[in-house]
Amino acid sequence: MYDRGKILTLLIVGIGLLLFPVFYTAGKAAKAPVPELSAKAKEAKECIEPASLMRTQHMKILDAWRSEAVRENDRLYRSSTGKTYDKSLQNTCMSCHSNKSQFCDQCHNYVGANPFCWDCHLAPKENQ
Ligand code: HEC
Ligand code: HEC
Ligand code: HEC
Repeated sequence: MYDRGKILTLLIVGIGLLLFPVFYTAGKAAKAPVPELSAKAKEAKECIEPASLMRTQHMKILDAWRSEAVRENDRLYRSSTGKTYDKSLQNTCMSCHSNKSQFCDQCHNYVGANPFCWDCHLAPKENQ
């Protein structure tokens, strides 16, 4: 006959292992990432668009910038407040957000996103 005790123990361990990622992620979800602004960003006070919009739309903005800049050679962005910016990841976003590891990566690590942009684009040099 089967050893009920052993089977029960294995079952409990098995379920525990299965649920581990759930508890693990739930624990991490308690503390949201706090992206830190660089000195230059602090001085600028505002992003190219309101922060609430940037939070959810920055990937779409970057995607649009890339197509427009590369395919249509349309390299000037006019913001909703009428300011103009160069449609450039490196020269615009990263010039203000030069602290990539304390800013972009804070959120991306948290949500498990790993944009491949840095395979080609130079990440800003950071003083550790
Ligand atoms: C002129 C400097 C400057 C430039 C250029 C700039 N940012 Fe920002 N960014 C800021 C500042 C300052 C804030 C915070 C604004 C606030 O809290 O109201 C911010 C906020 C953000 C946020 C929201 C952060 C949060 O805590 O929710 C994201 C995401 C972001 N920027 C991404 C980008 C990307 C991507 C680009 C390029 C497309 C870019 N920024 C260009 C200065 C800049
Ligand atoms: C407030 C949090 C936050 C900040 C700050 C932030 N991101 Fe993001 N980013 C996200 C989230 C959330 C996603 C969506 C991930 C997903 O859909 O899997 C994302 C996705 C992206 C993507 C698309 C990735 C893909 O694979 O589709 C790019 C590109 C990107 N971010 C660039 C940047 C850059 C550059 C910065 C710094 C200038 C930055 N982000 C700062 C939260 C943030
Ligand atoms: C395989 C290499 C490669 C990868 C990966 C890549 N890019 Fe690019 N990207 C380029 C090249 C080459 C250009 C053209 C440079 C130019 O015309 O100024 C460019 C141009 C751009 C531009 C407009 C010009 C500028 O100075 O920024 C943006 C915006 C951009 N890429 C965003 C992104 C984002 C966001 C990602 C990640 C989601 C990404 N790229 C991933 C190679 C790459």
